[in-house]
Amino acid sequence: MHAVLVPVYLLLITPITSSWWAAGSQVVMDPHSICKKSRKIKGKMSEICRTDSPLLDEISKGVKQGHDECQYQFRYRRWNCTASKRSMKKVLLRDTRETGFVNALTAAGVAYAITRACTMNVLTDCSCNKNVKRMKKGDKRTSNAMNLPESKWQWTGCGDNINYGIKVSKDFMDSRYKKMSDMKTIVKLHNYAAGRMAIKKHMRSDCKCHGLSGSCALRTCWRKMPTFREVGNRLKEHFDGAAKVIAGNDGNSFIPDGDTIKPPNREDLVYSEESPKFCTPNSTVGSLGTQGRECNATSQGEEGCDILCCGRGHTTIKKKAYGNCNCEFIWCCEVKCQTCLLENEISTCL
Ligand SMILES: *[C@@H]1O[C@H](CO)[C@@H](O)[C@H](O)[C@H]1NC(C)=O
Ligand SMILES: *[C@@H]1O[C@H](CO)[C@@H](O)[C@H](O)[C@H]1NC(C)=O
Ligand SMILES: *[C@@H]1O[C@H](CO)[C@@H](O)[C@H](O)[C@H]1NC(C)=O
Repeated sequence: MHAVLVPVYLLLITPITSSWWAAGSQVVMDPHSICKKSRKIKGKMSEICRTDSPLLDEISKGVKQGHDECQYQFRYRRWNCTASKRSMKKVLLRDTRETGFVNALTAAGVAYAITRACTMNVLTDCSCNKNVKRMKKGDKRTSNAMNLPESKWQWTGCGDNINYGIKVSKDFMDSRYKKMSDMKTIVKLHNYAAGRMAIKKHMRSDCKCHGLSGSCALRTCWRKMPTFREVGNRLKEHFDGAAKVIAGNDGNSFIPDGDTIKPPNREDLVYSEESPKFCTPNSTVGSLGTQGRECNATSQGEEGCDILCCGRGHTTIKKKAYGNCNCEFIWCCEVKCQTCLLENEISTCL
């Protein structure tokens, strides 16, 4: 009996983040490899692993989309959501604002990819949301919809099935943490949920008119997800305003760190550890440093050399490249340019 229990126990206490990377020095975040490692774990996640390869493929796409968006949002930050294993691994094992951001975007990416797959009919267990609901006159939901005189309209067509996407994201990502109530796990599950909310709370309506010569006697409307870029932008705002939390007294919740801050709501990101500065290489915290990073010499923002280079200064080289010049607007509607050899200044951190 013990011979069986020990390996299972070891799997459960091995931080699951260890399966989000694999090949060489790059983070892969491949759900298929998570499944291989997690064969002995029961629950909804293993059901997906065992039986549903198409679903796993979509989950992979979602994880990748989340990571790509993370790199886009953090392209000018000292820590740029690098796929380098020695960095990402350490960041995921901690509980900083960066950890929360990556987790939220990953959970959102999975929910998004599954929902999109349902709409496009590539999965057997779901389709688009065909719920037809007749709208009452003056229904609040009509106000988002097309600005047209009130006429009969209905929910129909092919709406995005966000509830199914969220269910799969939860089954795959949350279910393995069900019996854990340590601080990091509670924070992680909160941030997963916040990532999904960044989609679900911001669904919009799209409508189409039907009827003779645009009379719009009947309108059909359906629910649509925001673009994933919008989801990323929103989560970046939540990252900037993330709330630091400490463990609550009951042992399975958290409370704001400091008594003046309002409690974080379901869409807010939370963290329990301060971030490192990420200025210099430090393998303990997964910092690669910013030496050699491209920066903007005139900007005061996070992409500016002052902040990105941590006060170490920067060098600027002139680089020549062909580009458009002497552009002329020709009535109507064309822009004509010449090609010239242009000199660009490129600054990099010392
Ligand atoms: C790396 O970071 C840790 C944690 O912040 C710190 O204790 C340690 O001194 C750092 N090491 C170096 C070489 O800077
Ligand atoms: C991200 O940061 C690392 C380390 O600072 C750097 O090597 C890499 O080129 C950066 N990636 C991008 C896309 O800027
Ligand atoms: C650098 O920052 C300045 C000020 O924010 C901006 O006008 C300029 O376009 C930026 N340059 C590049 C190459 O991004």
